[in-house]
Amino acid sequence: MISINGLTKKFGALTALDNLSLEIGPGEIFGFIGPNGAGKSTTMKILACLMRQDSGEARVCGHDTRSDADSIRRLVGYMPDFLGVYDDLRVDEYLQFFAAAFSVPRVRRRAVIDQVLELTDLTEKKGAMVDSLSRGMQQRLGVARVLIHEPKVLLLDEPASGLDPRARIEMRSLLIELRNMGKSLMVSSHILSELAEMCTSIGIIERGKLLYAGSIQEAYARVRSTALDIGESAQPGTMDRVVVCLHASSPPAESLAPRLQGHERISNIKIDSPRMLTVDVRLSDADGHSFLIDLLHAGGARIHSVAPIEVKLEDAFLKLTTGALQ
Ligand SMILES: Nc1ncnc2c1ncn2[C@@H]1O[C@H](COP(=O)(O)OP(=O)(O)OP(=O)(O)O)[C@@H](O)[C@H]1O
Ligand SMILES: [Mg+2]
Repeated sequence: MISINGLTKKFGALTALDNLSLEIGPGEIFGFIGPNGAGKSTTMKILACLMRQDSGEARVCGHDTRSDADSIRRLVGYMPDFLGVYDDLRVDEYLQFFAAAFSVPRVRRRAVIDQVLELTDLTEKKGAMVDSLSRGMQQRLGVARVLIHEPKVLLLDEPASGLDPRARIEMRSLLIELRNMGKSLMVSSHILSELAEMCTSIGIIERGKLLYAGSIQEAYARVRSTALDIGESAQPGTMDRVVVCLHASSPPAESLAPRLQGHERISNIKIDSPRMLTVDVRLSDADGHSFLIDLLHAGGARIHSVAPIEVKLEDAFLKLTTGALQ
């Protein structure tokens, strides 16, 4: 649906996009993640034919953004990061305006508007003034607006920014519903966790360069390994750092540690207290952490809990986007 190859865009001396390439298949929700100034909006504007690249190619459903903008505008719904102010319009007038702008036939407009209002859960707000809507409702109205001409591909620039957790969940279910309707979505965000649960794949961009493209699971695995600084030579995602808490009636950590020493799947044993130790374990598909539990049991341990260390996603993301993976 979207194919970007060697895309480069400069603003004076600043290279906003630096030889960017990525592919988004049909029916995907692609999370486009990166910090401020990474180049997310620039990429989306080029795809929406609102800005021209200096070199490289961007295609939407096979159409080139430079030579076939009219076809692309019909196929794409682009929601900018700022909706703009339309403070003296009612919700239905606002949508009428966009329906007219997108040449939706007059006889169809009423039905299409009712449909998108229903989908975005704004039917009750049809007669409300746009500026009286909450932030979450305004963002949903932004989505309603880009659905008016029934596009196949949606480019949504930070649709969840500034939303409270509940509104974020509502936005997420809306995007999943759109995907179930057969649309392909590119959704940008600063925050990895904001998109994690709904994306089929993600791309991480920083200073115009793509640092990562692939599944969210693989991204998390890399983020964990990077954030924990687990073994330089370790393959990303193959190691976990876990904390073992022992029961008061257990032999102490000091006496159990030698059992773990030298095991081929265990390294970096650290005794934190008589009741707590931290170890790095090499994961296998077959048994996760259970081999560690078996080993400790064999030494008479009474285990209270075994838990992987939680990585603070924001810290990890910072590491990821400062190029620690390159
Ligand atoms: N019209 C413009 N003129 C000059 N520089 C620009 C213009 N648009 C973007 N830039 C610069 O290009 C870089 C990429 O900007 P872009 O808006 O694409 O980033 P972004 O990833 O969307 O960031 P944010 O998360 O803040 O929205 C930034 O350094 C920005 O200052
Ligand atoms: Mg932006």
